[in-house]
Order: sequence, then C-alpha cells, then structure tokens
Amino acid sequence: MKNESKDVSIEINKPKPLKFESELAYFNRTTDIQTTIDTLLSGEHVLVVGFYSNGLDLLNALQSYLRKKHPNQDFQEQRAFRLEYRKLSNLVLIAIDKHKLVVKKAPLIGWLQKLYPDSDDFLLSFPQIQGLNSAWQWYINGVIIPVLRNKIHPYYGVYFPTRFEHLQLFDNWLKRYEGPKKSAIDVGVGSGVLSFQLMKYGFQKSFGTDMNPNAIIGLQESMKGTKLSVKIELSHGHLFGKWEKQTELIVFNPPWLPTSNDIDRLDEAIYYNDKLFSEFFQEAKKRLLPDGRIVLLFSNLGQITNVTKEHPIEKELSDQTRFVLDRHFKKSVKKASTKTKRNQHWRSSEVVELWVLKHK
Ligand SMILES: C[S@@+](CC[C@H](N)C(=O)[O-])C[C@H]1O[C@@H](n2cnc3c(N)ncnc32)[C@H](O)[C@@H]1O
Repeated sequence: MKNESKDVSIEINKPKPLKFESELAYFNRTTDIQTTIDTLLSGEHVLVVGFYSNGLDLLNALQSYLRKKHPNQDFQEQRAFRLEYRKLSNLVLIAIDKHKLVVKKAPLIGWLQKLYPDSDDFLLSFPQIQGLNSAWQWYINGVIIPVLRNKIHPYYGVYFPTRFEHLQLFDNWLKRYEGPKKSAIDVGVGSGVLSFQLMKYGFQKSFGTDMNPNAIIGLQESMKGTKLSVKIELSHGHLFGKWEKQTELIVFNPPWLPTSNDIDRLDEAIYYNDKLFSEFFQEAKKRLLPDGRIVLLFSNLGQITNVTKEHPIEKELSDQTRFVLDRHFKKSVKKASTKTKRNQHWRSSEVVELWVLKHK
C-alpha cells in the first residue's frame, strides 16, 4: 500500500498476504489435535476453520507439546522452544475475506481494512493475526503515557513505551532546560513521545526521523489536520533522514541492546547493530549547533543481562574526540510485577539513564 501523504515512496510494513492454489489440511473442533501437530511437524500448513477459538486451542496444544519436548529451563533449550514454536505456529493459517476473518466469533481487526484496502480474499498466519489484533486494541484504545496529557495511539508495527522511567527523566530535564527552543531533531521518533514532550515544553519545531516506515505513516495520520502536523516534521530514513540543518537539541532514545545473528533479535526498535552509535555521533557532530546539546536515553539492560560489557555512550565519551559529558542522570526501574512468568530477576538492578552531551 502506498501512503497517501507527502512521502509517497514509503511502503508500509505489514504481514504478506498468502494465497494457495492447492487444498490445505484444516483444523476445527472435531479434528484430532495430535494429527494436526504431526501435519505441522511435517512442514505442511493447516487452515483453522469454524471458530476463532479453534486456532487458540491449536496453538495452546502446540505450546504444551513443545514444552514437553523442551522441558529444561536453560537458555539454549528455551531458545530452541521459541524457535520451533515460531516456525510451527506460523504454518497455522486463517482466512480473510472482505477485510474480516472468515471464522466465527472472531475479533474485528480494523488493520485488515486499513493495511489491505485492495486485497479481498487471502490468508495470514494465526500468530500474525494475533499480532494485528493486539496492535488494533492498542491503536483504538490508546496508551496512557504519564508525562503526556493525551493518550498515544500507536500504529501497527511501531514501538511504543510500556515503561516510563526514562520519559520521566527526560521530562525533568526539559523542565529545567533553559537553552533556546527553536528546533530539535528527534532521531527514531517511533510513536512520537519525545517530540510530544518537546512540544509540551515549548519547542517550536521538532524534526523527527525513523527508518521504520510505519512510524512515519502512523504519526502523519494521527497528526493530520492538527497544529502538531506543522510543528513536528517527519522524514523516513536512517538516523537523521533528510534533516541537514543544525539544531540546538538532538534527542535519541536508541535501541538498548546489541544485536546478534539470533532471529530473536531482529527488531530495530530494541536491538542496535555495531555501527549505529558511531554513525549517530559522527552525523550528530555536523548537525548540532555550537552550544547545542545531545540528549540520549539509555539503560544498563545490556550489561546486567550480560549481553555486552560495552556501553556505547561511555565508549563515545572515552574517545574524547567529538563530545564531552554535560550532565548524567539515572533512575531505578520499578521491579517487574511478580505475576510475570518470565524470569526477570535482573529487573531489580535495572537503571535508566539520561545522558547530556555537548561539543568538545
Ligand atoms: C526505542 S525506540 C524509541 C522511539 C521513541 N523515540 C520513544 O522514545 O518512544 C527506537 C526507535 O528508533 C528507530 N530506529 C532504530 N534504528 C534507527 C536508525 N538507524 N535510523 C532511524 N531510526 C531508527 C526504531 O524504528 C524505533 O522507532
């Protein structure tokens, strides 16, 4: 789908519609679950028919089967479990016709109309539909962000914050900021929260970028016809996108964990590659006004989960070639709820960080 607004070349990210010529194995209430799991194990697709809940039942049965197959809690085995579940569950399909799921008692998912306006009859995998369904709930219900007056309505496939300590750090910093407020660049604008905070504290203009087309399309849609669409300008692209002008402030809430070849780590909102920070600082050097500031939000997540010993901002500062430290603030992250199933004991030592850098 092409986006109707200014950046006509942006192609939206969405699950690819599937079509099959041959007949598929199907699963309904009366089908034997183990036979269906065997079909999936042989690499064949299975179509869920009848009720939506049949698909949920099948995926639950698949999970139980794989848990028995991978009973140990160690990292390798849990990873093997996740990879196999991902592979097999994506063979489970569901049909869409005229922007609705064909099965009975199915949730209404508005993305089917919005993202596939011209496709009538196709299939998606059940996990993709689950993703579209929860994203639709976030989008229509909105998400309360404690530092913002209005809810945000995150677009399909766009990162949005679910914890807010780092945003509180940024809010406190903005409250006390006494520099000029003509313009800022918001690298990796996502759902727009940092730009909205900039507006809240009187910045006249924010130039946002994101390499994820959905972030740009979603924000353009949500700001359409409002004053914000004039104050927050967007560019789709890597790091600074098309913005070349110097500004007095550059803000970046980058991914917090280093990437690897692991397919668990493909999400560019969460995982950074080894070039991201050096390129960011190199480009930021050109775009920061002489008295300007760079604000980076970060966390010790990579270090406390033992994924890396390196801290990319400390590394930049230790080089002493481009930038020096102006201020540094930290805030502990609240302990995760004890109800969560995942092993998150490390959360107790998680600290979010706000780094303020200036030209050397
Ligand atoms: C952690 S999210 C932060 C989003 C938003 N600024 C916030 O604070 O909620 C990081 C964002 O940066 C974007 N991003 C990651 N790498 C990027 C790059 N090289 N160039 C532009 N944007 C990037 C991601 O798509 C994502 O939207």
